Amino acid sequence: MQNNNQITTDIEFATRQLRAGELVAFPTETVYGLGADATNPIAIQKVFAAKDRPVDHPLIVHIANAKQLPSWARNIPDAAWTLAEHFWPGALTLILHKQVGVSPVITGGQDTIAIRIPNHPLTLQLLQDFGGAIVGPSANKYGRVSPTTAAHVATDLGDAVAVILDGGECAVGLESTIIDLTNTQPVIRRNGAITALELSKALGQQILIDTSARSDAVRTSGTHESHYAPVTTLRMLTYNELLTAATLLQQQCKTFSVLSFKAMPQDLNSKIYWQQTSQDPKEYAHNLYANLRIHDALNNSIILIERPSEDPAWLAILDRLTRASA
Ligand code: TXA
Ligand code: MG
Repeated sequence: MQNNNQITTDIEFATRQLRAGELVAFPTETVYGLGADATNPIAIQKVFAAKDRPVDHPLIVHIANAKQLPSWARNIPDAAWTLAEHFWPGALTLILHKQVGVSPVITGGQDTIAIRIPNHPLTLQLLQDFGGAIVGPSANKYGRVSPTTAAHVATDLGDAVAVILDGGECAVGLESTIIDLTNTQPVIRRNGAITALELSKALGQQILIDTSARSDAVRTSGTHESHYAPVTTLRMLTYNELLTAATLLQQQCKTFSVLSFKAMPQDLNSKIYWQQTSQDPKEYAHNLYANLRIHDALNNSIILIERPSEDPAWLAILDRLTRASA
């Protein structure tokens, strides 16, 4: 399935492919996106097909400049401009009322639209050269671990994508924070690197966090129960639970691997793949999806992962691990 010719840094080629209605995977600071021309419904349908994504799950529109907002959204509140000014380009997606005439294929038939300016030099250049907007979900199969390198995209999507723009490893490594501005009270629909505290400081207003995983009033596929998941079963446990489970699995001769903040205890079999992870949430997030892919490739019966703290800095990580182990 893998075709290395498609991995490139040639922006001109990528622009031509977008114009021709082909799929172009692009790097962002969060994760790689699977891009298509946002004004071409046939190209957009290819995105859903390549991902095996249900067609009622709306896509994010990526733009190069906040001046493009009125082409995609109407009744834009002041808060949107304030947040765009503060955080764009960056890991923040705004949900706004969709502009009349925007294809329902993008929004899954909803009256709202998700928009952001990603912060990656290659993709900003691509967006500028292309001149329009690019829809882009994460460039992985539906429900699976998001890609943070060009090679991940090639492994997941193979020839379904015409070109993969190689921008190296994604700096952040987790998807953008999604804030819904379609009601008087801003609501976070998906936690990401930009926290509620940063957002409320910028807005001078309290921000709610939508904790209901199945609030389908606004459909957010990233918040469905099982998502971001490796094929191997994943269990999130406290350190003590993890030790008990590891001992038991070892007694039963079951294969497993571990991601823990601590080193492997001496009394466990040294052949176990026990990875000691960073205690710094930024570094942890940066490596998380690549780590999950490494553990998945071992084809063990289970991956045990130590539960991180509930501190706001770990919220997005905790959220992804909760879904991945659902
Ligand atoms: O960091 C990111 O956001 C990455 C990069 C590529 O930009 N994109 C990404 O896309 O994570 P995706 O499709 O995997 O997740 C986007 C989320 C989905 O959960 C989708 O349902 C939600 O945004 N979404 C899109 N449009 C929406 C809308 N109008 N209302 C509510 N949720 C929406
Ligand atoms: Mg996704």
